[in-house]
Amino acid sequence: MTKVIAIHSFKGGTGKTTLTANIAATLATHSRVGVMDLDLSGPGLHVIFGLKKGEIKATLSDIFLGEAEPAETIVDLSQKFDLKKGGLFFCPASNKIEDMLRLLKSGLEVSVFKDTIQKVGDQCKLDYIIVDTHPGVENDTVLAMGCCDALVLVSRVDQQDLFGTAVMVMLAETFEKPTFLALNMVPPGVRIKDAVKVGKDLAVLFKSHFLAAFEFQIDVINNLSRSVFVLDNPNSNFAKKVSEAVENLERELAGMSAQQSSL
Ligand SMILES: Nc1ncnc2c1ncn2[C@@H]1O[C@H](COP(=O)(O)OP(=O)(O)OP(=O)(O)O)[C@@H](O)[C@H]1O
Ligand SMILES: [Mg+2]
Repeated sequence: MTKVIAIHSFKGGTGKTTLTANIAATLATHSRVGVMDLDLSGPGLHVIFGLKKGEIKATLSDIFLGEAEPAETIVDLSQKFDLKKGGLFFCPASNKIEDMLRLLKSGLEVSVFKDTIQKVGDQCKLDYIIVDTHPGVENDTVLAMGCCDALVLVSRVDQQDLFGTAVMVMLAETFEKPTFLALNMVPPGVRIKDAVKVGKDLAVLFKSHFLAAFEFQIDVINNLSRSVFVLDNPNSNFAKKVSEAVENLERELAGMSAQQSSL
């Protein structure tokens, strides 16, 4: 069965889209991975994945507007990224302002998103679907939380972000969804081992799982979201950290599935 992982944060600009693309690409070196851009009012993944206009036939926004079928939205990126053992399949959001405004008026149906996940997962035989979301508590947040198996909460080690992350953990609890805490953009003035300790302590406090602490990497920001960083820089420190986080996530999710099936 396809495992659905939503990536979220309370505050904006914490690195959700960057981590979604890099985690998905890392997983896709050995698994079949779908990526959905559910940041319907501020999509960005199509930029990182380097999609050209003609490559997008339909979007998730079209599905919510009742104007496309899930299969029509899938863009197979496996060849482009040379993923021989796994696969990467992307469902983009529309970047047309009129679609965003129409969606704001029409709202989002949980049943439509569940059906989309099911159909895309089945058609592409996916092991995972990773969903990138809009920050804060919005319609799409609730939608992603309701439909996912696990939620990765991305936070900076900043008091505003961390307080907001506690709010998101509480919301996830009401949906009975397990959460993973990822600290991102740890500034050069904070030692990484101190950030890891903060992350682990908070995970205990929040009844969450600590996933990883990623340093602020100048080469990541200098990439200007022009590509999937780990694919272009497989030997970088960031790629190593993303691989460790992916291994951790896979291990924890497998443990949770084993626990559920033994109940
Ligand atoms: N570990 C990191 N080190 C340096 N720069 C990073 C890191 N992670 C992300 N960035 C940069 O931070 C910026 C914001 O990242 P991104 O767009 O992924 O955030 P976001 O949470 O998706 O934002 P939004 O809430 O607007 O959707 C980008 O320029 C990205 O390259
Ligand atoms: Mg984003």
